This record gives sequence, structure tokens and C-alpha cells, in this order.
Amino acid sequence: MDDIVIDGGKPLSGEVTISGAKNAALPILAATILTGGRFTFHNVPRLKDIESIQHLLVSMGAEFVRDGHTVHVDTSNLKDYEAPYEQVRKMRASILVLGPLLARMKRARVSLPGGCAIGARPIDLHLNGLSILGADIKLEHGYVEAAAKRLKGGEIYLDLPTVTGTENLMMAGVLAKGVTVLRNAAREPEITALADVLNAMGADISGAGSPVITISGVKKLKPVTATIIPDRIEAGTFMVAAALTKGDILIKKCDPSHVEAIIHKIEKSGAAVEVSENSVRVKGGEAINSVDVKTMPYPGFATDMQAQFMVLMSVANGFSVISENIFENRFIHVSELKRMGADITISGSHAMIKGRPALSGAPVMATDLRASASLILAGLVAKGTTRVSRVYHLDRGYESLEKKFKKLGAAIKRVRGGS
Ligand code: EPZ
Repeated sequence: MDDIVIDGGKPLSGEVTISGAKNAALPILAATILTGGRFTFHNVPRLKDIESIQHLLVSMGAEFVRDGHTVHVDTSNLKDYEAPYEQVRKMRASILVLGPLLARMKRARVSLPGGCAIGARPIDLHLNGLSILGADIKLEHGYVEAAAKRLKGGEIYLDLPTVTGTENLMMAGVLAKGVTVLRNAAREPEITALADVLNAMGADISGAGSPVITISGVKKLKPVTATIIPDRIEAGTFMVAAALTKGDILIKKCDPSHVEAIIHKIEKSGAAVEVSENSVRVKGGEAINSVDVKTMPYPGFATDMQAQFMVLMSVANGFSVISENIFENRFIHVSELKRMGADITISGSHAMIKGRPALSGAPVMATDLRASASLILAGLVAKGTTRVSRVYHLDRGYESLEKKFKKLGAAIKRVRGGS
């Protein structure tokens, strides 16, 4: 397992290009199950999670060829409808094959994802929705056994605006007989990106990006060529890095409209933000002001940015409160930040942060994807050396993050086979 070692204290400046969004690429790659033929996707990030869904699709009989940041996928010879435990255990987003498999193969056998570091993360809303669409769902031996001669349209109200739940049900509805309406649907940009690809394939979806999505079933779909949208969480991570190190970073190939809530909070913290069509420039302010944050479904402040923003608040002037309203256990990074000198007290879903003049470098351990990004951010600003272990968590969702930070002037390196 690799470590990443950082000598903190250097302001970051220069330009960084954002990679394609992991959470857009995963459902779009799952959507290739819906029809045979050769798909081509550009701007697909090189990440462990993308490799995971590649292995899963190939294990079912798909062809998957990567050419740089372009991938070609063909599921014409799909012969299996199972997502085994070994795969789903590694990446819970594998559950995204459930809807498309039911739609195309009329059957699916997908391992229950189980919990993860940040919470129980049940899939009851996915399963209830599929039952409404006529699927026969059984839970046996840790697997979802689903079958449906032909899915039929239905009215689904989602108790929570679940992102992958909305994606799974949208994909299940595109070949169903009749109209499916998803109410209280998630509104993330990745939902809209998936709907755009499905419509290009011949689906008939309206309302993506709003709380009510209508899917009129069609008989046939065709493969397409598409480009993956930029990763708004990676963009937000670099925005925090600029404010945190009092640097000046031009974040290129991002969509500013996807990071409005983050821009608002970064500006309130005292940094200057310049927005143009597909880039955001962030210049750190002299002082870092404390800002309260509540994580909410999109377009609210993203839970995937909570750990990163907490690092900024840990060196702000004054006292701030960060409330995590999406996942029940997404403060695992706090204990490691406290070892670096952060003054944070947890009370239920709230983290009370008393800003300190500086953090101090220390050996720390990553526990989940966004926590690992926050520990690297803390190392960038801490006095002394920070060694982050178990960075395989980072490699799931950030493409060459340490190389991008090094280009911006950070004293950072990856130590192969560290701890
Ligand atoms: C997606 O996860 C993202 N993953 C997560 O990003 C992100 O944190 C999350 O949405 C919230 O924005 C992908 O898109 C691959 P949810 P997802 O279903 O779909 C509860 C990252 O770092 N819930 O929107 O699994 C659930 O427990 C990852 O890239 C149910 O109760 O999240 C949670 O509390 C981490 N029943 C809340 O809803 C269900 O059936 C939101 O979860 C489904 C969800």
C-alpha cells in the first residue's frame, strides 16, 4: 500500500485541469448494459473505481478497451447477469448494474453492498422502486435476486433523494412498458449527465435535474459516443487547496454551475473567486474566516466536500459548525485531523471546529475516499511533514492527485509500498 508524504507550508499557484467525474462515469458505463453495440466515451478518468466497473462488465461478457482517457465498450455478447460479492465489496456503486440488467436481461443477481466506512448505506429505496416497476425481488444469501419478464412503468416516490437510486430506477424505466415517474428524485449533475446519454441512446426522459423525472419506456436503444462531465468534487478540492494555502489556482475544465454552493462558502471564508465559462480561479485571502456549513442534497453543499472544507475551517479565525446531514458516520477523518492539532468536537451530526493558527504534520491514515483528500489538504498547510497511509482510498476517486498538487508547487511525493 502506498503512502503520500507532504512537507507543508507552501502556497499553491498555477493551473490545474479537472478530470472526468467518477460519479458520472460509473452510471453511464453501467448504462451500456441496456443495449449491444459499440459505445465510445471520452474524458473517462483513470481511477480504481472505473477499473472495478470495467472488471464487472467484462466478467459479464462485455468488451472494454481503454485508449488514454477514451474507452470503448460493447455489451453485445452479454452472457451473465451477476455482480458477485468480491466485486461489489470493492465498490458499492456496482449496484448500478441492477436496473440495467433487469431491463436488458430480465434478471439480475447482485450482491448486497453492505455498509461502508461512512454509513450503513442501505439500498431499500432502489429495491422498493424496482418492485413498483414489476420486478420480483428476493434477498437470499447476501444477494439481491431480481427478475421481471418485462418491467412496467410506475409512480415512485423516493423517501430520500438517493443519487444511485435515482440512476438505477431511471435506467430500469427506459425500456419498461409505459411511463415511470420518479418523485423526490436526486438532482445532482451526474443524474442529468446520465439522462443526456440515455436520451442520446433513444430513451425518452424529461425532468432530469429537477425533483420529478418522467421516463417514457421505448422499445429500442442504440449505442452512442459521449464525453464525461468534469468532476465537481475534484474542482471543489482544489478550490479549498487555494484558499487553505493562501495560493492562487486556476481550475480549468470545470463547470462553475456545478460548484455554486462551494464557491459561496469559499468566498465567505475570505478567498477571492473569479468564474468564467469553464474555469474557476481561487485566490486565498490574507485571513481565513470561519463559515458554518450544512451538507445537503444537490444543489446544497455536497457531503463529498465536507471533509475537505473542515480542513479549511480548522485553520480559520474563530468558531464554525459543520453539520453532516447525508451520512450517519462521515466524521472519521476528524480523529486524524485532531492528531494534526485541529480542535474539533463532535456532537451527533455536528462538528464544532475552533480554528487554530496552524496544524502540525503527523503520520495519519486514510479511511475513505474524501477523508484521504482532507488529510492531504491538511498536510499541505501543516507545519512539518505529514505521511498519509492507505492512499488506495484516494486512488479510487482522484486521478494523480499528488502529481497535480506537485505541479502547483507542493512538496509532495508518493512512496510506493509505504506502510
Ligand atoms: C452517491 O452515493 C455518491 N456515489 C456518493 O459519493 C455521494 O456521497 C452520495 O451519492 C451523496 O451525494 C456515487 O454516485 C457512485 P445516496 P449513493 O443513495 O447514491 C440513504 C464519493 O465519495 N439511502 O444518495 O450511495 C443513504 O444511506 C461517494 O464519490 C437509503 O436510506 O448515496 C444516505 O444516507 C461517497 N436508502 C442517503 O440516502 C437507499 O436505498 C444518500 O445516499 C439509498 C440511500
